Amino acid sequence: MRIKLVSAILTLGLALASCSDRRTVIGVSQCSDDAWRQKVNREIKIGQYQYKDVDVRFCSANNDAKRQVRQIDSLVASGVDLLIVAPSDVSTVTPAVERAYRKSIPVILYDRKIYSDCYTAYVGADNVEIGRVVARFIAAKLGGKGRVLEIAGLKGSTPVEERHRGFVEEISKYPGITTSTVNGDWNVDGARKIMSRSLAVDPNIQCVFGHNDAEALGAWEAAKAVGKEHDIMFVGIDGLPDKRQGIDLVKRGCFAASYIYPTHGETLVPLAMRILNNKPIERMNYLPSSLVTAENAAIVEMQNNEIACQANSLDAIYANIDSYMKMYRSQKIISWLAAFIVLLLIVLAAYNYYVYKTKAKVGRRLRQIADEKVRFFTRASHQLRTPLTLVAGPLRHLISQGGFDDKQQQTLDIIQRNVAELEHLTANVLNFQTRVDSATDNTDQCQQPSISDETVSQLVLQDSRRDIVTKNDPDDDLDTILIVDDNADIRSYLRSLLSPYYYVIDASDGRNGLRLARESVPDLIVSDVMMPIMNGLEFCSKIKADDVTCHIPVILLTARSAESQRIEGYEHGADGYITKPFNADLLLTRIESMLANRRKIKIAQLDGKAEAPDTADANSADNLFMSRFREAAMQHLGDADLKMDDLGSELHLSRVQLYRKIKALTGKSPTDIIREMRLNRGHYLLCHTDRPISEIAYEVGFAVPSYFTTCFKKQYGINPTELRRG
Ligand code: FRU
Repeated sequence: MRIKLVSAILTLGLALASCSDRRTVIGVSQCSDDAWRQKVNREIKIGQYQYKDVDVRFCSANNDAKRQVRQIDSLVASGVDLLIVAPSDVSTVTPAVERAYRKSIPVILYDRKIYSDCYTAYVGADNVEIGRVVARFIAAKLGGKGRVLEIAGLKGSTPVEERHRGFVEEISKYPGITTSTVNGDWNVDGARKIMSRSLAVDPNIQCVFGHNDAEALGAWEAAKAVGKEHDIMFVGIDGLPDKRQGIDLVKRGCFAASYIYPTHGETLVPLAMRILNNKPIERMNYLPSSLVTAENAAIVEMQNNEIACQANSLDAIYANIDSYMKMYRSQKIISWLAAFIVLLLIVLAAYNYYVYKTKAKVGRRLRQIADEKVRFFTRASHQLRTPLTLVAGPLRHLISQGGFDDKQQQTLDIIQRNVAELEHLTANVLNFQTRVDSATDNTDQCQQPSISDETVSQLVLQDSRRDIVTKNDPDDDLDTILIVDDNADIRSYLRSLLSPYYYVIDASDGRNGLRLARESVPDLIVSDVMMPIMNGLEFCSKIKADDVTCHIPVILLTARSAESQRIEGYEHGADGYITKPFNADLLLTRIESMLANRRKIKIAQLDGKAEAPDTADANSADNLFMSRFREAAMQHLGDADLKMDDLGSELHLSRVQLYRKIKALTGKSPTDIIREMRLNRGHYLLCHTDRPISEIAYEVGFAVPSYFTTCFKKQYGINPTELRRG
């Protein structure tokens, strides 16, 4: 899919890159490749320079008409926009030109014509007229008498036929002149042979008319070979400027004249562009010219040299332009490619992003489904465990009481075995659940209680604790325990378990638990985790974040037993973690050991072996609370009527909250602590001032000085007067 996308974009990119550079292609099919054609081709290029978006494809048939037909067909097949054709053999080439023309390719015939009307325009000389001009010149030179050999061009092309026609038409007006005509092949060698043969037959030839300069030159060479080059007059056609070409041969006296056969190749591309752009054109474009004779040969040569010079400089300029254009085109292609690579990368990035998003979406959905399953199993299993616990515990208790007959005992054994089996199966389901949990790496840990590694069979109810006495009114002698659990049976079971030893209060969810904890400031909290309204983890965090309750140890009692869930519990501030189904002994032991530790610390504080309130397990919030309490008490030290209600409200606490918080942290009541602070201040004033004892007693908040003395003696073992004395 991705490969298909990339290749489609690449194709599009390349197509656009090439479209952006659409060029016109002109095909030139030359019949031969001699000096005259080379001049034409060079001029065509000069014409092409005017158009930056035009390419010209040249090909030459070397006077082979069949070859030219193939070349024309292949130019058409290659998709040229226009053809310029100088046909070789007219009857062979005409069908090829017609084919191209019928394919709606405009055709410009150049120099030569075809036997058909299937062409767009003609550019070339009037060859009939050339024949006439040459005839008139020869007749004049011969004085109307003499023998003329016409060496015509290669048979089959229209210039040959036309030049001959014009020549004969004009020369026949001079009865004193006789002519004979032989077809050559446009070349020097061919003409040389013809001339040798002709001289052998007719040594009185006085003039040779070659259809081009090459043929006239061949004839001249043959005459020279027999020492007759000065006796015979030679006239050619083409009049090219280079060495051993028409003008040069006239200048050197070899030829009497050469007709300048006009090229004007530079007019072809502009004409082609006009045709392609549907602009009006002249269909027949005859190029005028004239004879070069001994009289004007030097001037014509000079002009030609100048034109050649200019053409050379033009060539140089256009060669430079050409190379700049090539550079420009390649840079343009590179820019296009770069743009498309960038586009490609953007598309790929977008595609990858889309795939990533889709995968993530599918992944999320699958995880959601998995989570839903997990939650379903978890809840189902968890809900099974609570009633199972409440069946198994009392059943064991019943069996341990004994006194059943055999049949009853048997029945109870069956029930116990099957309850154990049910516990085992539930444990298996939850074990499986815990594996699923770690595989899906579910972060919603709070919603997924899992299996305990303790078995229900370890649940033991102690007989000695079974005599339930319902009182954790609060009694200073009994610690208060707050149970928070949404299951009423569990609450009642825990209450029955704990109330023989503690004053027990309970709440059915975290929010009520929090309210109760703030009101009653219990000594310890046992809380479930999975509860409605506010779960146990949030409840625990809130307990630990509150000034009033932060010192209270919290034991989480839950079916969530995975290592990560325990860690999560401790991270929320839990002091203990016991998993359901729980061992009653274990729970009682943990509760008792936590409370005993607290008591030990308080005793150590009272004995002065530990600092208060900064005890080993007192948290910084407790330290802060004690500082605030002492600071508030210090403000009112001299106030003998100080009420604990007032001090409590300064600290945003009720009297009961203040009492239980201070008691929990220090083991002493707020009144005891304030009395100690007053006596410490009195001790200081007794030692550092000589103010009367009664005044000091009033200052530190004792309304009756004798009571100050009594308390002082009790605290320091010495009365104030004795302290002063000595
Ligand atoms: C060049 C040439 C010229 C001649 C012309 C006739 O290929 O042979 O010498 O004038 O063609 O088409």
